[in-house]
Amino acid sequence: MIRITENKELSSLTSFGTSATANRLIEWSSAEALADFLRGEGGNFLRNGEKWTILGHGCNTLFTEDYKGTILLSTATGMETIFRNDHYTLIRANAGEVWDNVVARCTAEGLWGAENLSAIPSSVGASAVQNIGAYGVEAKDIIERVEYLDLETLELKSIPQVECEFGYRESIFKHALSGKALITAVVYRLSSIPAPRLDYGTLRPEVESIGGELTPAKIREAVIRIRASKLPDPKVLGNAGSFFKNPILPRPQVERLKELYPEMPIYPVAGSGEHLKIATGWMIDHLGWKGRRVGRAAVHAHQALVLVNLGGATGKEVTALAEQICREVNEKFGVEISPEVNIL
Ligand code: EPU
Repeated sequence: MIRITENKELSSLTSFGTSATANRLIEWSSAEALADFLRGEGGNFLRNGEKWTILGHGCNTLFTEDYKGTILLSTATGMETIFRNDHYTLIRANAGEVWDNVVARCTAEGLWGAENLSAIPSSVGASAVQNIGAYGVEAKDIIERVEYLDLETLELKSIPQVECEFGYRESIFKHALSGKALITAVVYRLSSIPAPRLDYGTLRPEVESIGGELTPAKIREAVIRIRASKLPDPKVLGNAGSFFKNPILPRPQVERLKELYPEMPIYPVAGSGEHLKIATGWMIDHLGWKGRRVGRAAVHAHQALVLVNLGGATGKEVTALAEQICREVNEKFGVEISPEVNIL
């Protein structure tokens, strides 16, 4: 089914909850119906060079002004097991499904791989675009393939994991396929063989404090506890999770920083001995920003990487706060930080 709404108010469609209006919202619940619709007059906006974008569940998007174009939004939910053997299971989920419903199902079935990614607010489609990650695991670790509608030919296609160019919060869908591919479903590969990943931060002690047998459900519970203690619930306080990325810097630069700030947290970067990742949240915290407000926007009191809408903040108020933080981080640490959030 296709539903079109003209002049759509967007505050309920993003977790930041800032207000803005889009010229048009097109909601689609099946890839085939969308392809048919776009082949006809419904797709004129694609051919006329008008502005358009794809929205997931709006958990990583900040509107700073009215959107003078068309927004495409998937309402296609549901997931199914499409293959199972003794070693692994393939689950195919539609793009509009709630990501955490996929994790809940995998962990309830005792399948390994998704549990560290519990409670991340995201749609299935965005899990692949953004290569969502937490507690030492990224979506790329369990994605088998991504199905999409080629917006140039309007054919349904599939791309295997190895061709998705996944990196830290990066994928081909943000680069070569940006504006060309609309994700319709993602196939995840979960393992039947235990593969706990407990080495990030306080995850292991949290799991141990729960006690009992080590299962994917147990790890999910621990991750949910840790997240709830640090990250604000978007239903209560508008936010989009981490507002900034953690910069990946050349090793000598990080070593110089470490001499100046021995307590600065540093993480290895998979596949690159030459680079290290540093924690932006720590730098913002070190500058004393935690809990500080500017107008109706603020830095979250428990996690300095998260900016929040205290109620009624405009997108511009949030970006003004973000710019001030970027400037101060650069002045103090000589490091350029960039938003993780998609700012429109
Ligand atoms: N830290 C502070 N003060 C703060 C925040 C962090 O000192 O206010 C320190 C922590 O103590 C820790 C380090 O900085 O030593 C890293 O903090 P944390 O483990 O909370 O992770 P993060 O780097 O702030 C990243 C992801 C999160 C993900 C967590 C856990 C990014 C941009 N963010 O945050 O993802 O949940 O790791 O794996 O990579 C998201 O993308 O929206 C998100 C929430």
